[in-house]
Amino acid sequence: MFIVAIETSCDETAAAVVRDGQEVLSNVISSQIEFHKKYGGIVPEVAARKHIEVINPVIKEALERANVGFGDINAVAVTYGPGLVGSLLVGLCAAKAIAWGRKIPLVEVNHLEGHIYANFLNSKSKILSFPFISLLVSGGHTMIILVKGHGEYETLGRTRDDAAGEAFDKVARFLGLGYPGGPVIDKLAKRGNPAAIKFPRPMMDQGYDFSFSGIKTAVVNYVSRLTLHASQVPDLVASFQEAIVETLVEKTIRAAKDRNVQIVTLAGGVSANSSLRSRLQKRGQKEGLEVIIPPFEYCTDNAAMIGCAGYYKFINSSLVISHSSLSLSPVASLRL
Ligand code: KG4
Ligand code: ZN
Repeated sequence: MFIVAIETSCDETAAAVVRDGQEVLSNVISSQIEFHKKYGGIVPEVAARKHIEVINPVIKEALERANVGFGDINAVAVTYGPGLVGSLLVGLCAAKAIAWGRKIPLVEVNHLEGHIYANFLNSKSKILSFPFISLLVSGGHTMIILVKGHGEYETLGRTRDDAAGEAFDKVARFLGLGYPGGPVIDKLAKRGNPAAIKFPRPMMDQGYDFSFSGIKTAVVNYVSRLTLHASQVPDLVASFQEAIVETLVEKTIRAAKDRNVQIVTLAGGVSANSSLRSRLQKRGQKEGLEVIIPPFEYCTDNAAMIGCAGYYKFINSSLVISHSSLSLSPVASLRL
């Protein structure tokens, strides 16, 4: 079964062709980051307009690279939220046009679900089994989710303020390191000592919720007390990253043990973080847990993960709310 998937929830225009929910035949991503960099964050109106410019060429390229035509496609999967409404609308309109023109089903996919399903793209031979714990860490969300089956989620914890990726982005912006902050901090932190500064680990002993705005403020306070020299930045960001990673990993492992779940997965843009990936692997191994991490290219926003989630929604057709529904609307804020 061939699914063409479209993802435009934020600043990446993405299209993919996925076969049988697992084999990625193409995964095209056009990033707008260069246009937004100078503003230090995403400008929603600019994002929507840029999506319009590239959506058709991106879909065309995805089909060409997969060596399929519209006639070979069985369904269209599309992100309908959460995200920027103007951006989502562009992907939705394109998806509706394909579904309507080809008379094929339109499968709506929650962006958060897409990130979780990136883990099903992990290996050709092995399919992830239920239940598993998913640590979903992106620019807009930080959640620990117990995934019991396809479409069956229990949110165990979430951030009460900033998302983990948001904390990376805000600290990087404060330090003048550019946007997005995660990859820059990740790289710089490799040259620093993560034990140099002991930043707080908020709510470490309380449940599975997170709070990251305090760490961000601690960084700001630390810097305001001294004249920061460029040579100190690697230690500073390594220590900040350590505080975030330790909190994420310890709570996730605790959730798995408390719920007696053997598999832990990572999802969302922050799962590209090298320290988080290795730390979770090591801690998981120590606890006898299986840790599954999506391939790097499926961590940040992409359409292959949407195609995968769409496939499982489609084959479990009770989960498909609308088939070729032209009334499907973008949703800015959406839970699992
Ligand atoms: O999932 P994503 O691409 O978009 C959202 O759905 O939000 O996540 C983007 C977030 C940004 O905050 C970015 O700074 C962060 O993921 N990120 C990283 C890394 N790569 C991307 N954070 C830490 N380390 C990274 N290597
Ligand atoms: Zn995302």
